[in-house]
Amino acid sequence: MNQSSNQVYPVVWHDDRVALIDQTRLPQEYAVVEIGRSEDMAQAIRTMIVRGAPAIGVAAAYGMYLGAREIDTDDRTTFLNQLEKVAESLRQTRPTAVNLFWAISRMLKIAYESIASVEETKTILLKTAQEIQKEDLQTCYAIGDNGLSVLPREPAKLTLLTHCNAGALATAGYGTALGVIRSAWREGRLNRVYADETRPRLQGAKLTAWECVQERIPVTVISDNMAAHCMKLGAIDAVVVGADRIAANGDAANKIGTYSLALVAKAHGVPFFVAAPLSTVDFELAEGDLIPIEERHPSEIYQVGETVICPAGVEFYNPAFDVTPAELISHIITEKGAVKPSELINLSR
Ligand code: MRU
Repeated sequence: MNQSSNQVYPVVWHDDRVALIDQTRLPQEYAVVEIGRSEDMAQAIRTMIVRGAPAIGVAAAYGMYLGAREIDTDDRTTFLNQLEKVAESLRQTRPTAVNLFWAISRMLKIAYESIASVEETKTILLKTAQEIQKEDLQTCYAIGDNGLSVLPREPAKLTLLTHCNAGALATAGYGTALGVIRSAWREGRLNRVYADETRPRLQGAKLTAWECVQERIPVTVISDNMAAHCMKLGAIDAVVVGADRIAANGDAANKIGTYSLALVAKAHGVPFFVAAPLSTVDFELAEGDLIPIEERHPSEIYQVGETVICPAGVEFYNPAFDVTPAELISHIITEKGAVKPSELINLSR
């Protein structure tokens, strides 16, 4: 599949540094943050300047290279010891998206297996980060195309609901869930996207809506609590979401609110698809209950912009992700094809 002309790339390597689209400022402002140090990359991931599981993986891979080039030694053992420290600081940024750990492990493996000099190994690490980025883009195109084979055939033009942002901004480009939606649009099979606003950080209202507007894909933003009503009215033909980590049995962690959406979809007989690269599947975890769930600062709940909306004296709980059980998922759409959750394990080989 060919990329569209106005495609968005959240992570770009240029002039010896990484340019990140600052996702905390969209849609009001399109700003780019230049990152030249590993420490700054870790901070950008932590503060969600770059976010979305595959994009975090790509950013962390570049973070590993930036850290490697800061290490001032010719000695291989010293280099590897210091690179482990870079890896650890990147690992501490966000716990749920497994792509982060996957990309860091892949970069470390390359460094350990390199028989070249330390300087040459640094160059190999940069090439590996670029490969990870390129592969993710190809993967997203494949996911988009594979999604077409499982989307409902009726009606001819589908109305698809998505949650959070699993688009170009959350990947190397094109997107996973939004990649499927983009492919459906390209094929003339899409009527409209419904984007859940996605409390508390509003990735749906801000980022998914912004991406759709860039490509003139018709989009309707709804509050998260409106999805059941829309399904009851028959307005939604299928749900397509991304994932941050999928366990071997097909249980899928994604942005908080995904689980309730899946339950509602089940109740209304609406097919529920999870679109994700195999780098998001943690085959070492037997089931979703073992997936670590990030808890974020309560201000994401009690504050809207600069305004505090809750009275003093209340407590808060702010899990950033939830786990949708495999039995609520119709298909998991990967770059290797769309499979039933129970068949996911076959793709590990
Ligand atoms: O907290 P975020 O914005 O990083 O969460 C992102 C999501 O939950 C996405 O749906 C998921 O990472 C899939 S991105 C292709």
